[in-house]
Amino acid sequence: MPTLGLGVYLNEECADACKVALKNGYRMIDSARFYENEVQVGVGVGQSGVKRKNIFITSKVFHSDFTYDRTMAAVKDSVANLGSCKSSYYDLYLTHSALGGKDARLAAYKALLDAKADGLIRSVGVSNYGAKHIEEIREAGLEMPVVNQIELHPFCQQKPIVEYCRKNKIIVQAYSPLVRGALDNTVIQELAAKYSKDAAQILIRWSLQRGFVPLPKSSQPHRIISNNQVFDWNIELTDMAKLDALDRGKEGAVTWNPVDVD
Ligand SMILES: NC(=O)c1ccc[n+]([C@@H]2O[C@H](COP(=O)([O-])OP(=O)(O)OC[C@H]3O[C@@H](n4cnc5c(N)ncnc54)[C@H](OP(=O)(O)O)[C@@H]3O)[C@@H](O)[C@H]2O)c1
Repeated sequence: MPTLGLGVYLNEECADACKVALKNGYRMIDSARFYENEVQVGVGVGQSGVKRKNIFITSKVFHSDFTYDRTMAAVKDSVANLGSCKSSYYDLYLTHSALGGKDARLAAYKALLDAKADGLIRSVGVSNYGAKHIEEIREAGLEMPVVNQIELHPFCQQKPIVEYCRKNKIIVQAYSPLVRGALDNTVIQELAAKYSKDAAQILIRWSLQRGFVPLPKSSQPHRIISNNQVFDWNIELTDMAKLDALDRGKEGAVTWNPVDVD
């Protein structure tokens, strides 16, 4: 899996963003049924000039489709939506959240495993899951997810979930790594000045150095490009500690972050 991906939430017309990203070094696109832009992802991938096999595409099934049959149908429709880049599969497919109750999310998860066996999906993961939701998968005797995608940035570090994922070798993808654009924090701005970077780059670099896979979203070409210019410099450990100290637990979340649902 690439170490950084382009988020496309709230960008229904994301073909151009995908194309710009892929032409400028990105190799991962994070979409979802809920974003209603899988067709646009396929268009952008198709127009990028990058071979499909070198791109990692993710989608997610929403909890309103958490029955076995509806999830299987959702995956098939998602694959059809990629038609214009002639892709017959997703690299990663997630249950979008743990909402809907235990029976429903396990039924959806089983459908994803079967879709994987059918070749429609290369790997199966979850999103917005707390440890207890992932333990249900283990207790049901099912293959464990390869990814848990959760809200993650210095203000919302979700340490218990991250620790659980590390112990279980589950890759942690960081969504909303730019705090949805709320970047006017003194610590972040001072570090941006110190390293001659912008605030978004500081947050993305923090995420990478913490071992997460950040998924910054932008629809603006110059930001898409700068958000990926984070691989040839480091934040010093003392400065990482200053960012770590911004954690406000659940209070720091800026999205729905439904990791505690029953
Ligand atoms: N699994 C889930 O439940 C879930 C939930 C939320 C998000 N996600 C995924 O994670 C991705 C990222 O999260 P997100 O979209 O919520 O938020 P985000 O990436 O933290 O922030 C996006 C916001 O930051 C702005 N921005 C981007 N680059 C910037 C830069 N260099 N300088 C200043 N502002 C910048 C964007 O505006 P412009 O577009 O105008 O640049 C946009 O308003 C989503 O797109 C989606 O793929 C998943």
